[in-house]
Amino acid sequence: MLLGSAVREYVVKERQRQTTARALRYDHVIDLVPLGMGAMFIDLGMTPLRDLQNADRALTEEEANLLRQHPLAGAAALPEGFNSVAKMIVRTHHENLDGSGYPDAMPADQQHIFTRIIRIADAYDAATAQHVYKEAKSPARVIWEMTCGPFHRFFDRNLVRVLARLIQPFWIGTKLRLSNGQYGVVVKYNRRNPFAPDVVIAFDREGQPLAKSELVGPVELGNERTLRIQSCGDEDLSFIYHVTFMDDAPCPAIRQSLFEAAYP
Ligand SMILES: [Fe+2]
Repeated sequence: MLLGSAVREYVVKERQRQTTARALRYDHVIDLVPLGMGAMFIDLGMTPLRDLQNADRALTEEEANLLRQHPLAGAAALPEGFNSVAKMIVRTHHENLDGSGYPDAMPADQQHIFTRIIRIADAYDAATAQHVYKEAKSPARVIWEMTCGPFHRFFDRNLVRVLARLIQPFWIGTKLRLSNGQYGVVVKYNRRNPFAPDVVIAFDREGQPLAKSELVGPVELGNERTLRIQSCGDEDLSFIYHVTFMDDAPCPAIRQSLFEAAYP
């Protein structure tokens, strides 16, 4: 809903573009209620698959196929009079923008704007959550993977860029180790590039706080040619400077776990 609200004009434009009806009423196309309703029920079809969900092992092909049917099972389980747009969201929430999703491998131009929004929110949620079969990834890692890393082609480019600005990889107050060995604290977001916020250099190379008179900044990392972000806590962040578009990489036909089914 947060992402949908942030891109209301895009929602209107896309819904009008994709409809065959001559003119859709503005109050209809801007209505985000079906988006929220659909979002609540996307994994309804997973309910009978709870054991598989927590299985700490590779799934058989049959089990993996069952998993891939959960969008259809979920849509079918909803009552007859349920909002048709919300039902459509449940059915299509694992479709990827490059046509590699399931259950229909639906091409991009047929994907409803709400489907694209939910795909992104669900993927971000899955990747940053901890499960029995995988560690949680950091927001910085996931935002990078979805915007300019290996999974960018699954998502609507306009929407992931807005998500990156809403979520932010480095929150205000985050302590980042910089390439000069000192530590900067994030003081302001960079609207153009979320990976290059403004920082105040406030800790020395040993991580000890600098005296007030020794503070440097705010430094706009977006305008710095040599000063880079190196790490945050234990996480090496050098990957944020790599754009690894992998457009030729084959997409696995069968995902081996629930996580792989959701992310990418
Ligand atoms: Fe799902």
